[in-house]
Formats: sequence, structure tokens, C-alpha cells
Amino acid sequence: MAAFSEQRVLSVRHWTGSLFSFRVTRPASFRFRSGEFVMLGLKVDGKPLLRAYSMASPAWDDGLDFFSIKVADGPLTSRLQGIKEGDEILLGTKSVGTLVHDALLPGKRLFLLSTGTGIAPFASIIRDPETYERFEQVILTHTCREAAELAYGEELVASLKDDPLVGEHAHKLVHYTSLTRQDHPRRGRITALMDTGQLWDETGGPLDPATDRVMICGSINMINDCKARVEAAGLEEGSNARPGAFVVEKAFVG
Ligand code: A2P
Repeated sequence: MAAFSEQRVLSVRHWTGSLFSFRVTRPASFRFRSGEFVMLGLKVDGKPLLRAYSMASPAWDDGLDFFSIKVADGPLTSRLQGIKEGDEILLGTKSVGTLVHDALLPGKRLFLLSTGTGIAPFASIIRDPETYERFEQVILTHTCREAAELAYGEELVASLKDDPLVGEHAHKLVHYTSLTRQDHPRRGRITALMDTGQLWDETGGPLDPATDRVMICGSINMINDCKARVEAAGLEEGSNARPGAFVVEKAFVG
């Protein structure tokens, strides 16, 4: 089987000077679990150039959504940011990842901790009905530097109540935003909000390893800093082979 196929760009949206999202066709044979990632890219000088991208759409959707940063000198994203409707992209045939329900034990509260484009896999998970079958409350945290970077998540969460599959569960989702470099009702890194207790005070109490589950997606430093705090609360890391109380994945940079 070929490692990738050519897919058509259905739409592109630029959110800020450094963030854009796009939707592509989904091959009938392409199966994935909400929260997984795939290799995606372009042919550059006749050769495939691919990077890991989290699916930002749920497993039941006909198309595939992605959310990306633009890196001016990034080999892939400097080119990918120029794609237009009708263009061809390359899509890997195999999806993988640990930010999946299979890697988590059952629980009551699910924390989805994200910074920047780390929200992408959670865009998939919050539109998956399984999320609301498995958890009573879902807290999606998104921390960015500036307000404009929150817009993607804000629009997504606002649209949830009209979603045909999960709309009835929209009330279970808490969208918890904070900014680090601009005024906002909530300021500070998610790690600082954990340390002061503000996050727990605002979401129903401190982490309980028996009933709380956590997925973490952001930069390597953000993951390590969040992981240390979650482990200190007594949660154990899970994997596809051995489900646990929390899972992590790096937000990919093109
Ligand atoms: P800050 O502005 O204080 O660096 P980046 O684009 O660098 O990945 O940052 C995205 C968001 O994640 C920013 O709000 C940034 O805060 C925050 N952040 C960066 N590093 C960490 C970390 N180690 N732990 C928690 N949040 C972080």
C-alpha cells in the first residue's frame, strides 16, 4: 500500500498572521480515532515533504480538518500556508496517536490541556459522542499569547451546541481560556493557574486520580511542566497498550 495519497483542499481559513486551518477530502479507506495524527504535506521539487498533523475533525466527519501554524522559514508550513481551494495535498494512509479514549481509564472529569495549535486534537475529541458517553464533564483549556489566537477554539466551541451529534451534550463542555501576553479575564500559563489553584477552584476541585483524566497537548516544555503537576497529584500515564489516568502528545510544528 502507498504511504500517502493525493487529496483535494476543500477550504482554507487564515485566523492570524501565524495560524490557519484547512479542510481536505477524506479517502473512504482512511480510518482514524478522534485525537490521532497523520503525516500530511506537499510535493516539493518533485519529492514528498510531510509532517505530523493532528486531525482537528471527528472520526465520523466526511472531510478532514487541520489547524496549523505558519513558520516563515519552515520547509513545509512556509509553502502549505499558500494552499487554495482545489489544490492537492499529500495525506498519509496511517493514523496514530495517544490522545485517544482507548489510552484512558474511565472517569468523571476529562481535562484537555492545550496551548497554541495543541488544541487541534481536542477539536476532534470534543465533537466525538464517545467523549460525552465516557465523561460527565469535559474541560478544554486553551492558553495562547494573544486574544486573536483563541478565535479558532472560541468559534469551534460556540458551534458545538448546533452540532447534530454532540449538540445535546454541549452543556458538559467548559471552555477555559487564558492569555499570557495580553489582557483577558483570565491571565497566565495553565501551569501557573494549576499552581495557584485557580484552575481547580474554577472547575469543581483539585485533581482526583480516581475520577479525573487528563490529555495534554502543547510544546515539549508545556507538556513536561503539566505532566509533572499531574503526576504529583497521583495520576499515572496511559498508553494504547495500557490505559491510564493521563496521556500527552507534542503539538506538531511544520
Ligand atoms: P508565555 O507567553 O508565558 O510563553 P508558544 O507559542 O511559545 O508555544 O506558547 C503558547 C502558549 O503556551 C503561551 O501562552 C505560552 O506562555 C504558553 N507556554 C509556553 N511554555 C509553557 C510551559 N512550559 N508551560 C505552560 N505554558 C507554556
